[in-house]
Amino acid sequence: MDLRNSNLLERIEHLGRISEDSGALTRRFATPALARAFASVEGWMQGAGMETRYDAIGNLIGRYEGAKADARSILMGSHLDTVPNAGKYDGALGVLLALAAVEGLHEQKKRFPFAVEVVAFCDEEGVRYQSTYLGSRALAGTFTVGDLNLLDSEGIRMADAILSAGGVPDMITSSALDPSQYLGYVEAHIEQGPVLENHNLAVGVVTGIVGQSRIRITFTGHASHAGTTPMNLRKDALCAAAEFVLEVERVGKSTPHLVATVGELRIPDGASNVVPAQVLLTLDLRHGDNAIRREMVARLFHNAEAISQQRGVSLDWESIQEPSAVKCSPAWTRLLSQAVRSHQRETLFLESGAGHDAVALSSILPVAMLFVRCQQGLSHHTDEYAAPQDIAIALKVLDDFLQLAAIQFETLS
Ligand code: HGY
Ligand code: MN
Ligand code: MN
Repeated sequence: MDLRNSNLLERIEHLGRISEDSGALTRRFATPALARAFASVEGWMQGAGMETRYDAIGNLIGRYEGAKADARSILMGSHLDTVPNAGKYDGALGVLLALAAVEGLHEQKKRFPFAVEVVAFCDEEGVRYQSTYLGSRALAGTFTVGDLNLLDSEGIRMADAILSAGGVPDMITSSALDPSQYLGYVEAHIEQGPVLENHNLAVGVVTGIVGQSRIRITFTGHASHAGTTPMNLRKDALCAAAEFVLEVERVGKSTPHLVATVGELRIPDGASNVVPAQVLLTLDLRHGDNAIRREMVARLFHNAEAISQQRGVSLDWESIQEPSAVKCSPAWTRLLSQAVRSHQRETLFLESGAGHDAVALSSILPVAMLFVRCQQGLSHHTDEYAAPQDIAIALKVLDDFLQLAAIQFETLS
């Protein structure tokens, strides 16, 4: 067995133990736990003959030189931050697969007509500030400077969090990569869904990534005594929110290929004997067609307005982020599927319902994605699992992809 595979599996376990929480895996943006994970990956990158650097927002980038010092690069990687109570493959597997592919080049002292850069992004999930792709948008030059004033659940400004993690907020917009120096971006990631498992395939090639709408919603009613306030005189924010949540489910179920989720719901200062005055909730809505997604967001906004008027509560509706659906590059996807064909009886093409850093990079570079089967399609869950033999196939595919890119370099440039 290729030693790189056993190293990769050990590194998955190692990173899986680096967490903010003792009993679970949680690694949010600009936290000491994320810094510890970066430090491990940086050491492995340097061991693979890579020059390493951190950019202004805190992404870690390793560069393995090409045959010529100023060669353009193929960028590969994924994110190292996680959701709370996460699995250990989401993000980390893509970083470690890219790193292992470079290790293969380093061991064979191979130099291609392009450099290979591996990036570990610092915030794909958007858990801490509800704004996704912070790292990849900074690299792509599409970072929203206003996001620096967003506050996390402890009231810490994003700019201060970046500073405390060693970043330079004021330099973020000027430290975006120069697209003319890159050929494209390839990301390996667990599928986070059941399709590959249903087809009994180890890997698949992504055709596109759905668009997302992430909305922050607040219903504000009126706190009152649970014992003395008659039911018909209440302005109960939680009942309004509950009616809305079921409306979200109804719209999601009745619209083909739409998924709609209220993943967070909070009652600040809630108490069992107080009619809830305020409820804060998040809406995550996704579809492969941007027009349909926007139409459903508008419909749910009008439903929320009607509920709030009918119940005498106020509504605050804040769009945090609405990244559009993206298509992967046909040329790069063809090359990736050519690499898959050498290791699998068939190449399955599938759309990604999960968002990925490739969404942000697609605004400036051609992107391609390789999916790796994960058990029962489970993700964002401690039982998330990718089998060693599937990971080994994914590594061979990335090895072959780089080899094919070198052979077809002229067509990629
Ligand atoms: O939410 C997502 O789609 C991804 O896991 N960040
Ligand atoms: Mn995720
Ligand atoms: Mn991910």
